[in-house]
Order: sequence, then C-alpha cells, then structure tokens
Amino acid sequence: MSTGVTEVAREPRTLPFYRSLTRYTRDPIRAFEEAGKEANGELVRLNMGPFKPYLVSHPDHVQHVLRANWSNYVREGMFWDPLKPLIGDGILSDGDTWKESRKILQPLFTAKYVDSLTENMAEILTEQIEETIRPGEPFDLVTAISQIVHPTIVRLFFGDKISREDIAQLVPAYDTAVTAKAIRLVLPFVPGGFPLPGDKAFERSVKTINEVAYARIKEIRNQDNDDRDVVSIVCRARGGELGEIGDKKIRDDVVSMHGASTETSATALTWVWVALDKHPDLAARVYEEIDRVVGGDPISAKHLPELRYLKMFLSELLRLYPAGWLLPRMAVKDDVIGGVTIKAGSTVMVSPYLTHRLPEFWDRPLEFDPERFAPEHEERRNRWAYVPFGGGPHQCLGQHLFMLEALLLVGGILSKYRPVLRSASQVTPRLASSLRPNQNVQMTLVPVERA
Ligand code: HEM
Repeated sequence: MSTGVTEVAREPRTLPFYRSLTRYTRDPIRAFEEAGKEANGELVRLNMGPFKPYLVSHPDHVQHVLRANWSNYVREGMFWDPLKPLIGDGILSDGDTWKESRKILQPLFTAKYVDSLTENMAEILTEQIEETIRPGEPFDLVTAISQIVHPTIVRLFFGDKISREDIAQLVPAYDTAVTAKAIRLVLPFVPGGFPLPGDKAFERSVKTINEVAYARIKEIRNQDNDDRDVVSIVCRARGGELGEIGDKKIRDDVVSMHGASTETSATALTWVWVALDKHPDLAARVYEEIDRVVGGDPISAKHLPELRYLKMFLSELLRLYPAGWLLPRMAVKDDVIGGVTIKAGSTVMVSPYLTHRLPEFWDRPLEFDPERFAPEHEERRNRWAYVPFGGGPHQCLGQHLFMLEALLLVGGILSKYRPVLRSASQVTPRLASSLRPNQNVQMTLVPVERA
C-alpha cells in the first residue's frame, strides 16, 4: 500500500463550482458534469464557498481511495453525518462496527445464496407488478417502480414475518428518509444543527421505520426458528448480544440494508424504461431476445443465463446512470493522490458518474451502447473505470441480487407487455442522494399479441 506521503506534492487546482451551481440552480447535475469535463480526470477541488471538497474521477485515484489506502478515507463527515439517525452504526458505517456487520452479512449475499432466492423473488415480483400496474392504463413510472421494488425487498428480507400494514408504512417512510436530506448535498457547509427544509420529514420517517423495525426484530428474536430470511439470519448471528444493544445493532443493519438495496435498485430500474424509450433500435434487440428466450412463459431461473443482451443493456445503464453516483469520504490523515496533497479532515468525493464519462477510458462516452459490455471487450476495460457498485472493502454486497431482480422484473414485464412512455425525452438525472429522474414520467404497458 502506498500513501505516497514522501512524494513532492502540489496544491490542486480549484474550480469555481459555486458559480456553476448558481447558473444551473434548476439542474445542478449539469454543474457537476461541467466540473467533471473541466477536470478531465485531474484531481481538483470544488469551490463551494466555505466548503472545498476534492473531486476524484481518474480510475487510478478511485482505486487509491476505495482500495489501496481505503482505511484513510472513512464514511463520515458532512454527507454521512446527517443520515446517521437512519443508517446508525452498521454496514453503512466504518471502523469496527462496520467490520463486524460486514462479517455477518457478506456470507448472506454469495451468488449461491442469492440464486436460491430466484423462484421466491420471481413470485413476489409477479404479485407486486400485478398489484401495482393495470395494463393499458397510464401510471407514474417512478412511483410504480418504487411500489414494486420496496415491498419485494422487504418481503425477501423479512420472509413472511411482516404484514401488509407494516410494508405500507415502511415504503413511504423510506422514500422520504432517503430524499429529505438531498438539499444538504448542495449546501454541505450548513451545520447539522441548523434546520433545513426536509429535516422534520426525515425525523418523522426515521421514527416510523424504527417503530416497525424494532417491533419485528423483537418478535423474531423471541422465536426459535431456523428460517433463512435475512432478518432471521442476522438475529441468530447476533443472538449473543442481548437487550437493547443487540436490538439496535440488528436494526442498524436491517435498516441500512433496506436503504442500500431499495433506493439504488428502484432508481436503476426506473432508468431502464427511459433508456428503452430513447433507443428504439436497442430496445428492439432486447424485445427480440426476451421473445426468443422467455416467450409467453412465466419468467424463471432457467431463462436468466440466456438473457445476455439484457445484461449488457443493464451494465451500460449503470454506466451512464450509476444510482450511487457520488461516494463521499473524509480523509483521516494527510495523503497524496496523483501528486496532489489531500488535507486531513477534508471531504473527498469519488464520482462513478464522472469516471464513467471520461473520454480517456470510454470511447464516445455519452453514447448509450450496450456492446461495450460484450464479453470480448471485458478484458480491455480498466477495472477502476467502471465502478457502479464501488470497489475495495466497501464494495456493494447486492450486485448479484440487483442483477437477479432486474432480469426478473424487466424480463417478466417485457415478456407480456411493451412500454409506451410520455414525456421521456426531457428526462435527465436530478441531484439527490441517488440519481433519480428529474420529473415524473407517464408509462403505459400494452399487452404483447402472441400467435
Ligand atoms: C443498482 C443497484 C445498486 C447499486 C448501483 C449499488 C451501489 C453501491 C455502491 C456504489 C456501494 C459502495 C458505497 C460506498 O463505497 O460508500 C454500495 C454498497 C453497498 N450496497 Fe449496493 N448497490 C445496489 C444494490 C444493492 C442491493 C440490491 C443491495 C442489497 C443487498 C445492496 C447492498 C449494499 C451494501 C450493504 C453496501 C455497503 C457495503 C459495505 O460498505 O461494506 N446494494 N452499493
């Protein structure tokens, strides 16, 4: 591991980011894209008045922060601290509490375990889709996908131990909790104690989530079972830690897992439909593959390995619309990255969104082209130029689960229907904790005629 502190280092260039933000108040992601273009892989600072985070986009620098010297870059500071009441001290924290959680949760998300969930997930998804969408009738895409993805994950994680009433409370509470603090992303220098719009809604949502989560955890801990749902397994793993401390640790992991899995998946699964609409020629290839592989059958495990083009399409989707578009860290000690000094205590922002758009590593970077992910191109790609699931010790645990969920959801819907979207051409990403669309999109599902 090289921290490079003996190198001769220089001060980084500072870009006038606040000026760009005021120019693009309605579309702050544009300001961010411009900063990325201007930096072009160089490690720079963004001038946001009293706050000047370092911006990291070059794959070598991403590798340094996420892997080579990862323990110097902790998930603390202005971005993470406001979310602390939601995520607590579990898998989304750092240090010893994170290490303990990772040890318990990692074995749960192996490809083998996740594959064993396929049939259960396919059944739950089919039920949720039928409950949420009426074929032939327009619906709001963002709301519908959230209403399908959240209950699916909750039911998978809690097994059959959670009621519909609980799910109905949890879904909107999470939705609010993960979006209510978004304003602090553009005003990161405002102290946590200074009230901003969204703070009260955040507090109310966390209260609701805690009430539901603690009640279910207490119930499950009092039962003697060997169920294989995520919450039961975590409860057993923490069996020795009794009382409130044990309950809190389970709560922190379950709530963090839910947050990490639903917001990201729902966001990615919303963009799929926008991308299909924007690229009819590529959509035709997706439809052809699904017709050939799944046909009119209910989608199941046996179809998934054959959905090769859909997998490439989803990988390209996560390149241009990486739900985890910004991975903020705080530097513990002084460091040097790419010849630039990083000061202890400052914020370092790794941005998969900008890394995925660097012309040095991506030919025609703004063009949506799933062929980039054809197996024959795999070897030529720089591992750290494509980081939709992060990397290093904090690498996403849900990569495999997401692919499974996405193939089942998209393949399941497209085996029966074709999507028709209204107003999708104007949709661009919106600056929030994940990369949500900036406006509502109306979609209608039209049944596929089969001979
Ligand atoms: C499109 C879907 C998803 C995307 C784009 C995504 C992205 C990411 C990224 C970028 C990280 C790294 C965070 C960091 O370095 O600070 C991460 C971490 C994580 N993800 Fe995902 N994720 C997705 C789905 C899921 C799912 C379905 C799960 C459920 C199991 C999940 C669970 C986690 C967990 C637990 C972590 C924290 C790991 C750790 O710090 O040890 N994610 N994810």
